[in-house]
Amino acid sequence: MENILVTGGAGFIGGNFVQYMAANYPKYHIYNLDLLTYAGDLTKHQAIENNDNYSFVHIDIADRQAIDALFEKIDFTYIVHFAAESHVDRSIAEPEIFIRTNVLGTQVLLEAAKRANIKKFVHVSTDEVYGELEFDPTTFFTEETPLQPSSPYSASKASSDLLVRAYYETYGLPINITRCSNNYGPYHFPEKLIPLTISRLLNDQKVPVYGDGKNVRDWLHVQDHCSAIDLVMHSGEIGEVYNIGGHNEQKNLEVVKTIIRTLGKSEDLIEFVEDRLGHDKRYAIDPTKIERLGWRPVYDFDTGIAQTVEWFLENKAWWEQIISGEYQQYFDRQYAQK
Ligand code: NAD
Ligand code: TYD
Repeated sequence: MENILVTGGAGFIGGNFVQYMAANYPKYHIYNLDLLTYAGDLTKHQAIENNDNYSFVHIDIADRQAIDALFEKIDFTYIVHFAAESHVDRSIAEPEIFIRTNVLGTQVLLEAAKRANIKKFVHVSTDEVYGELEFDPTTFFTEETPLQPSSPYSASKASSDLLVRAYYETYGLPINITRCSNNYGPYHFPEKLIPLTISRLLNDQKVPVYGDGKNVRDWLHVQDHCSAIDLVMHSGEIGEVYNIGGHNEQKNLEVVKTIIRTLGKSEDLIEFVEDRLGHDKRYAIDPTKIERLGWRPVYDFDTGIAQTVEWFLENKAWWEQIISGEYQQYFDRQYAQK
């Protein structure tokens, strides 16, 4: 049996990826390593938690001793690294933890991986490392676009992305880097635009839209991200970077209006608020390189949003429990000045 280490497997994308791997690769033993910060929860894995081929490891990726001890005990074949602080607004308010987790934590993992006999270290980076594009619909991020991150979040992700590259160039560590566009889907933490909008509309609360709502994001369903990582992990050429995206550009205001329509709510619930500092105008991925590996997204946006809204309706207990806790203080702090 081959051992796969998934970091951040209690979070949104890592959690979906753990489920995806458990369903598709019963011969792998999945080690889900997570610190369980505010963004991590294990209830999503209740159905598999007693499986012989699933283990949870409660570790901080920046804790060198704990990581080294784990790697001494277990031979990993694959490492898929999702664990990170992931929210831009939190990085603007408190950048330091982003440096510790995203930069130092990645270096700790790379160092342990360097001494191990792994087949592949897949680093889950983001398209935000490229910075922003103008509103010109003919320009896209390719893998060759220079890294020009704007926020403390994206700067910390660009730093870790470059460290992964350095471990390949310097030590020959077998790596791939993926840079995906914005994800959405089940278990999306309700601080991000889509789940925030759905959960607030379901409670008939106002939805805060930053600035004029014209900023553009390129949205991909999380299942399509999981299948892309699976492909890169098994078939990606060592040392290569792969952009992941499905050509689904949407203005933020359009996204909010789509969700309002899906839920049959009123557009009066839209509230324009002060813009985010350093707000990137537009992200848009050119996915040609990963398409050449054979990847195609399955979800179109309308189907994906309808499925996601349905999921939030059916899993009210999950997100209501989140928004009733420390989240409420975060929300009040974040949106008070706006
Ligand atoms: P998330 O915030 O939902 O989950 C992050 C997980 O990492 C949580 O379970 C958290 O407990 C864990 N974690 C945080 N600090 C840790 C530490 N020090 N040690 C161990 N675990 C720790 O994030 P997400 O949206 O699922 O994003 C996952 C990855 O994908 C991130 O690396 C992010 O940069 C990248 N990414 C996200 C998107 C997106 O749209 N969400 C798009 C592209 C790339
Ligand atoms: P977000 O989901 O935070 O992802 P990212 O910043 O990583 O792209 O935000 C998506 C877009 O939605 C971004 O342009 C900021 C905007 N936004 C709002 O308009 N209102 C909000 O309350 C939030 C959280 C985001």
